[in-house]
Amino acid sequence: MAGATNITWHDSAITKKERREQNGHQSFILWFTGLSGSGKSTVANAVAKALFDRQIRNYVLDGDNIRFGLNKNLGFSEEDRKENIRRIGEVAKLFVDAGQVVLTAFISPFQEDRNQVRQLVEDNEFIEVYVKCPLEECEKRDPKGLYQKARKGEIRQFTGIDSPYEEPAAPELVVETNLHSVEECVDQVIAYLEERKFI
Ligand code: ADX
Repeated sequence: MAGATNITWHDSAITKKERREQNGHQSFILWFTGLSGSGKSTVANAVAKALFDRQIRNYVLDGDNIRFGLNKNLGFSEEDRKENIRRIGEVAKLFVDAGQVVLTAFISPFQEDRNQVRQLVEDNEFIEVYVKCPLEECEKRDPKGLYQKARKGEIRQFTGIDSPYEEPAAPELVVETNLHSVEECVDQVIAYLEERKFI
């Protein structure tokens, strides 16, 4: 892919700080990572509602939804997953610049790709949340019937079956959806954000 030349960066007339001040809160990325069926979207959306109720402007970027639009030209090869996460990282960064909280729910199986997004923003702007759930439990839940298809060989390169998932090495948070209810996981995230003065 060739990059463009003859392009110039235009600074915005409004700074990130000013946008945050107007919104009355910090802006940062809550990056949910985990296996398919681990509960990323469920927990992310429930946290989003809790933040919304506190007047905190936020938006959820969700794997399946983004793959209908922005990333509809990408599949599930290692290269495509990499590009998927790179684009999401860039979009998430724009949200942070816009003074909003952005919650992302992507498998994002590779540590290197998640680290790259972390590098893209400032130190206190990236919170990695590992939505931990054993593969057997995800497979039992199988909300979209995809594990069953993967086991039959009808879907290839399925995460956890014939494509790897690298557990986060040092996530800020681990929520265990096989041990705790959605409400408990949300409380855990909110408590973390409060303790660290993110909200
Ligand atoms: S990622 O690996 O590139 O981060 P992403 O979160 O965007 O994945 O998309 C994962 C979702 O796509 C899954 O929840 C599932 O619904 C669907 N999907 C379809 N095929 C696959 C596959 N081969 N591996 C994983 N998920 C798949």
